[in-house]
Amino acid sequence: MVPAPSRSRIRAAPVFAYHGGLRARPRSGWGDGLDYFIKQYSLQQGALEIEYIEEFFNEFPRRKTAAEVVARLTGRLHQILMAEAPLPSDPTGALMPVSFKVAHELRAQEDDPKLADLVERLRDRVQFDGRRVLYQWIGGTRSDWRGQGHFRALTEEQEAWAHAAGFDEIVVKTKNRFYEMRSTLDSLRFEVVKFERHPADNAESKVYLSKRLDRDIVDAHRLKRMVTQVE
Ligand SMILES: CC(C)(COP(=O)(O)OP(=O)(O)OC[C@H]1O[C@@H](n2cnc3c(N)ncnc32)[C@H](O)[C@@H]1OP(=O)(O)O)[C@@H](O)C(=O)NCCC(=O)NCCS
Repeated sequence: MVPAPSRSRIRAAPVFAYHGGLRARPRSGWGDGLDYFIKQYSLQQGALEIEYIEEFFNEFPRRKTAAEVVARLTGRLHQILMAEAPLPSDPTGALMPVSFKVAHELRAQEDDPKLADLVERLRDRVQFDGRRVLYQWIGGTRSDWRGQGHFRALTEEQEAWAHAAGFDEIVVKTKNRFYEMRSTLDSLRFEVVKFERHPADNAESKVYLSKRLDRDIVDAHRLKRMVTQVE
């Protein structure tokens, strides 16, 4: 029997790629003139990493298990990204996962009931037929590392990958009460395409946003990223 993969057995394949932005953003402390370190994971290992990092997010009412991640992403083009950074207090400078982003393709015809529902809600705002649409499913940055550009770095890497893979548009869903995420998506130039008001509590209303991809978007990327593939 093949043992289940565990986080401790993760080994980064020695594949590095630089994706240079226009500039490395100067930051105080972490990131001063440095690159952002990003890992792009294969499905099984990535699912374990997501289960692990989601433990640090109090905002998420229901955290995703590795099994849920595998079930959602199997059989569809997807990308699992994680940014790593050191603990400010750690003199060894060892890197740990601090931010993540998971996206997958969203097709015009979906069998999964949740995704079929999502497509129906978006159909009059997003053109699915004859185009490739990427759904930004889950993501976040651990609280101690927020405001340091990690989510922007992951977003830029995701956009570069998606554009190269032939995607035309990235869509994302959030809620009114997720103020940090709404502000961040605004800074990242996502446009609101739909608002669904919750009948009882407007904070629970859903906001759908989208960003159309083209060469100009990729050329405007700002951050220098070092990307490692993890098999
Ligand atoms: C939203 C979140 C992912 C941002 O991550 P981050 O690593 O701090 O983001 P970055 O530092 O890369 O910032 C990206 C951009 O968003 C802006 N931004 C980030 N947080 C912001 C905030 N709270 N208010 C205003 N702008 C903000 C930054 O200024 C930056 O813009 P710039 O690059 O043009 O300067 C993080 O705050 C988070 O995980 N929040 C909880 C997630 C959540 O609520 N999820 C609910 C389900 S959708």
